[in-house]
Amino acid sequence: MPLVKDYTPVPLANTDLFKALKVGNTTVEHRVVMAPLTRMRAHAPGHIPNKDWEVVYYDQRSKRKGTMIITEAVSPSAQSSGIDNAPGIWTPEQIEQWTKIFNKIHENGSFVWVQLCATGRQAFPDAMARDGLRYDSASDNLYMDDELKERAIKSNNPQHGITKDEIKQYIKDFVQGTKNAVEAGADGVEIHSCNGCLLNQFLDPTSNHRTDEYGGSIENRSRFTLEVIDALIEAVGPERVGIRLSPWNRYAGMSGSADPTLLSQYCYVVGELEKRAKAGKRIAFIHLIEPRVTDIFFDCTAVPEDDGTNDFIYSIWKGVVIRAGMFPSRPDSIKAAVANDQTMIAAGRYFISTPDLVDRLEKGQPLNKYDRSTFYSFTKEGFTDYPTYEEAVKLENSN
Ligand SMILES: Cc1cc2nc3c(=O)[nH]c(=O)nc-3n(C[C@H](O)[C@H](O)[C@H](O)COP(=O)(O)O)c2cc1C
Repeated sequence: MPLVKDYTPVPLANTDLFKALKVGNTTVEHRVVMAPLTRMRAHAPGHIPNKDWEVVYYDQRSKRKGTMIITEAVSPSAQSSGIDNAPGIWTPEQIEQWTKIFNKIHENGSFVWVQLCATGRQAFPDAMARDGLRYDSASDNLYMDDELKERAIKSNNPQHGITKDEIKQYIKDFVQGTKNAVEAGADGVEIHSCNGCLLNQFLDPTSNHRTDEYGGSIENRSRFTLEVIDALIEAVGPERVGIRLSPWNRYAGMSGSADPTLLSQYCYVVGELEKRAKAGKRIAFIHLIEPRVTDIFFDCTAVPEDDGTNDFIYSIWKGVVIRAGMFPSRPDSIKAAVANDQTMIAAGRYFISTPDLVDRLEKGQPLNKYDRSTFYSFTKEGFTDYPTYEEAVKLENSN
């Protein structure tokens, strides 16, 4: 895998990136986080983390002691899943595999947070129908795209706006998933309220047309996310809970900056979290995706890079902030973000391609190029075979 040559790496060893920080009950040794990355390598049926490759994959990326790893999106229940090769954490077999992964990460002296996600309308309605499960969202028949609409209609599983009882069940599922993660050894969970999944479908007025207390106003659209957070704080304590938000994301039919009122929605959620913090229940972190990443599947050129900023968070939230979005190849951007003492940066695509990413950022070594074609392929290739820097140099020299 060739090295990236289109930017100039800068050693970041003597910058704030390599300052320790307390996150929940853990103390990380540097501020590079592995972002949550769905890789579609789970066994189906069963949503079981890959038994052959996944311990190795997380081992490679947690080798640098004191690294914070956030897992790929993980479903807390069958109803919250709906993508066959994405993993869950509700059956003993799933939990057994996760335990092996968490143990390996901890053996390396690193930390692991499970990203818990309810997929909602990003699930495949026909796969849900096959398994006798609903195709859920905030509202009936507000499809994410024509393909999913067609699949939902063909499989007689139209998009269903969940009832209040079903919301309560989802909250219970999030609690159980969190307990399973913690009992299996995870340091905490990150609630996925971003990138167009179920909780995000409630936050965004394009996908939430409800007229009950879960729709119609900023407070109401935020209710489900905040109820999940409150239930988790109650179940395992605030220091084991984090959340991910994507105020600017347009993927999966979300509004991003196309709706100029949307940022106030996020200010409200963050404000509510700070209120809880001031009352003694500060969650471990808030994780935000940068405005320059509006859609992970495209090159994000459709919207100008500076069409907004995440700086709003510092006016409200006084705890740890993680920021993700095209950081690794932009040393100046990293330095600017971590100059704020509460802030860490997360890396997605370059953590896929560069298992020793933290060492390379420290030393100013070039990163490995990533191969999009294997992001979601059910192969060992593109998963555990990306080289370390020394291996990459040898490969380059031999070509
Ligand atoms: C293959 C792939 C899978 C992803 N899976 C998830 C996911 O499971 N949960 C999530 O919140 N974000 C997911 N993301 C978004 C990343 O966490 C990250 O926010 C995004 O890639 C921007 O960071 P980067 O520029 O460092 O890649 C995914 C991104 C990619 C490329």
